[in-house]
Amino acid sequence: MHSRILTLLLFLSAALSSAYSQGNSTVSIIPKPSSVVQGVRSFSLTSGTTISCSDTLIGQQQVVGYLADRLRGATGFKLRTLEGGNKAKSSILLNAVNDPGLGEEGYSLVVAKDRIQISANSRAGLFYGAQTLFQLLPPEVYAPRKLMRKTWSIPFVELKDSPRFKWRGMHLDVSRHFLPKEFIKTYIDILAMHKMNLFHWHLTDDQGWRIEIKKYPKLTEVAAWRVDRENQPWSVRDPQRPDEKATLGGFYRQDEIREIVKYAADRNITVVPEIEMPAHTTALLAAYPQFSCTGGPFTVPPGGVWPITDIFCAGNDSTFYFLQDILTEVMELFPSTFIHIGGDEADKKEWRVCPKCQSRIRNEHLKDEAELQSYFIQRIEKFLNSLNRRLIGWDEILEGGIAPNAAVMSWRGTEGGTAAARQGHDAVMTPGSHTYFNSYQGKEDLEPLAGGGYLPVSKVYSYEPVPEGLTSEEEHHVLGAQACLWGEFIPSPEQAEYMILPRIAALAEVVWSPKESRNWPDFSGRLERQMKRYKASGYTYAKSAYLVTISPSVDSAKKQIKLTLSNEMNYPSIRYTLDGSNPSSASHLYRSPIAISKMTSVKAGAFSKGVLLGKVSTQKVFIHKASFKPVKLKYPYERYTGGGEYGLVNGLRGSSTFADGNWQGFHQSDLDAVVDLGKQTPMKKIAAGFFERTGSWIFYPTLVEFSVSVDGELFTNVAQFEIPIPGGHRDTSIKELTQNLRNVKARYVRVYAKNAGICPDWHAGKGDKAWLFVDEIVVE
Ligand code: ACM
Ligand code: ZN
Repeated sequence: MHSRILTLLLFLSAALSSAYSQGNSTVSIIPKPSSVVQGVRSFSLTSGTTISCSDTLIGQQQVVGYLADRLRGATGFKLRTLEGGNKAKSSILLNAVNDPGLGEEGYSLVVAKDRIQISANSRAGLFYGAQTLFQLLPPEVYAPRKLMRKTWSIPFVELKDSPRFKWRGMHLDVSRHFLPKEFIKTYIDILAMHKMNLFHWHLTDDQGWRIEIKKYPKLTEVAAWRVDRENQPWSVRDPQRPDEKATLGGFYRQDEIREIVKYAADRNITVVPEIEMPAHTTALLAAYPQFSCTGGPFTVPPGGVWPITDIFCAGNDSTFYFLQDILTEVMELFPSTFIHIGGDEADKKEWRVCPKCQSRIRNEHLKDEAELQSYFIQRIEKFLNSLNRRLIGWDEILEGGIAPNAAVMSWRGTEGGTAAARQGHDAVMTPGSHTYFNSYQGKEDLEPLAGGGYLPVSKVYSYEPVPEGLTSEEEHHVLGAQACLWGEFIPSPEQAEYMILPRIAALAEVVWSPKESRNWPDFSGRLERQMKRYKASGYTYAKSAYLVTISPSVDSAKKQIKLTLSNEMNYPSIRYTLDGSNPSSASHLYRSPIAISKMTSVKAGAFSKGVLLGKVSTQKVFIHKASFKPVKLKYPYERYTGGGEYGLVNGLRGSSTFADGNWQGFHQSDLDAVVDLGKQTPMKKIAAGFFERTGSWIFYPTLVEFSVSVDGELFTNVAQFEIPIPGGHRDTSIKELTQNLRNVKARYVRVYAKNAGICPDWHAGKGDKAWLFVDEIVVE
């Protein structure tokens, strides 16, 4: 290419991209549209603006009403709405067209002098055009109440837009905690704002049944309620006692469900209900134990039970008739083509010993219990297909052979989705690693209690739904992606909002925008404006993307720790202190890695216009006599390096985020470390830090010994600690074992910590290798 043309093109693209993402009245839309050209002037929305539609062929009058209603909130304008084109001085026109380039859900939007025109082939496209129009207005337009402003400006644009995927989903688990109907509507509003079109409603699970079924009233009299144990940790709650009444829970009546399905449809959102089978169904079995293998009795668990073996009896025909009755009522309520039947995490223990299940296996010539699950799902699929519906289930439905027409929701990584697509089945991608919004979005100690794992918004943004290695034919089977919000740690609407905002913005761009336009710095700039919209809407949202990450690196030659400060967002400046005080707008501005060579506490935060955004991050650096001294390990660490060679003496302590990089992990093997201080050294104290999270297979050591030596051969024991293996889950904790010393002088310090070995009998991982986690060996 001629270099002058290249320079000109570079100049143009730079001009366009900066106009796109900066300044106040410029265009900042999430998800990013396919193409936008911005003009210099703007349209003024006033109380005299009218909203109209060319005709009513595609139901556009409904979008006219929606726009007028939504605009009335913040502007207070009662805009005139008209059918049939109009010649008003200032008008918004919704226009039905026949433009194959826009597809089923696409639209074009032109804002020009006195006129805004949204064109689409469908009502959905017009609705999305309206969503974009809101994002062209100042963020305050999202406020539910009238603001004092006479005109609202909208920049001139020419915009064309259509989605990349047809399944743009968001799931919500209302079994683990019931959430009220009004909040479900808010959730749907949030989906609509992000141009998501599918709401996967997880209505049933072990801890509660949430949908009224007229034929089986005990589902809502019994299965919807549990005893209140909210003050105990989720996975260690005492079960219901015989004398206790279950008082916590709730359900949606059928008329309420119809109302929600309609509310969603008005916003181009399909509601896919999920009815779990054959497992995750203890609540139902508490009401109807005759459909289990054992006959019960059962109570609704008030928290997590794992492993959970309660399951529908697959050998009993009445189980299938019962489920068909339930699904018949479900299909009357939900017009969606897909019905989700769960299928995940079915423990087959009871099937292996149930005479009815075993005779089913024999009579149907099935190989094993995996094929029995396949039989179960296929039988349900036949029923759904006979009523022109399609079955979708979690990726376990591939095991034992997938039902002929089933679609797969891939949650255990992407393998299930890939396998389904290769076998010619449709797949929806929802891998836990990138789309489980129940995981933490910042450092655990700065966040509300969540379900474990770390999924910052930038990681969601990096997700690519089409797995590698598929042919283009197979790629067509990837319908799209969705995120899941599991409810164990979602006791309130506010917490649900906090967990999806702003991560849903990243997901929306993944599933809507062209793959080529994915650009994190550009997105994070737009995310700032999006957060202003959340604020104006009154939503609770996470500011975790502003949290400063403090990344240490060790310079053992210089005996220094270098701390690099960063955050996910680009614009805010980072300020820090080294004296233990909280940072302010007058604190040091971070420019380059900070070298630390003495005991220090670094506190850092992100600032914008002098205001702290998000919370303050803290990193303590403990410099002591063993810092950066050589460590010899008898058994190697695995997976969790804790910083590698100097991990146990780098001055960095681990946090309750166990994968924070500071914990060194030993898998079934013991810690046996000898630190060489280089010369005879007087010492007053030896300490070592340990971590326990039994739910993650991490246990305290059962025995710890400190010993010292002059020559590295003969060691003298100076301390011994014993910690019994727990008899059930213990809360996550960090323990520093410390021994004060008098008149001790030595060159070598040995720390021995005995691994718990294997997970105890009561543990879900019974017999699995246990982890031992150590952060630092301290000598003073
Ligand atoms: C799942 O997370 N069990 C689908
Ligand atoms: Zn059975």
